[in-house]
Amino acid sequence: MESSEISRDLTTVLVTEEQIQEKLVELAARIDADYVGKDLLLVGVLKGAVMVMADLSRALTSHVSIDWMAVSSYGAGTKSSGVVQIRKDLDSDLTDRHVLIVEDIIDSGLTLSWLLENFASRGAASIEVCALLRKPEAAKVEIDCKYVGFDIPTDFVVGYGLDFNERYRNLRDVAVLAPHVYA
Ligand code: IMP
Ligand code: MG
Repeated sequence: MESSEISRDLTTVLVTEEQIQEKLVELAARIDADYVGKDLLLVGVLKGAVMVMADLSRALTSHVSIDWMAVSSYGAGTKSSGVVQIRKDLDSDLTDRHVLIVEDIIDSGLTLSWLLENFASRGAASIEVCALLRKPEAAKVEIDCKYVGFDIPTDFVVGYGLDFNERYRNLRDVAVLAPHVYA
């Protein structure tokens, strides 16, 4: 789905499909270099990180394993509740693994801080975070995120995996959702 086809629902396109791809190639090159000689496990957080995982993992030149975790922190609204629930756990054992968590967006940071603590208790050799988007002004907890795509304002955004009530995930760009859609 193109932004131009649903322009009534959007206020601004923040990051285009091309800008995303360019950034992911850049991040992938850093990740390749940082994990030379190490077995890397990419953990995607469902469902928002599906697109980032698909494009980031394919931009890597090294072998990686991929696993998924589903958590819920939002419910159906546009504000983080801070209450994290595991809906689907990992299939992999994290003991002695080098783990890179792949996320769509860091908003309050509450979901990730919870995940980082949870993963640390499973004995991983290392844990880092890669997030396509980050809203620095919305942070309630500081997350040490090694690989960040774009810092964006606090507006609610959709597209490239990010949804509002399960819609707009298949939008190619990342765009600010017009308030009339959720008001
Ligand atoms: P956090 O716990 O507040 O950092 O947010 C965690 C999750 O909320 C993210 O992984 C997203 O799935 C979702 N989220 C946060 N901000 C937005 C947004 O602007 N649009 C859509 N989903 C969002
Ligand atoms: Mg998410």
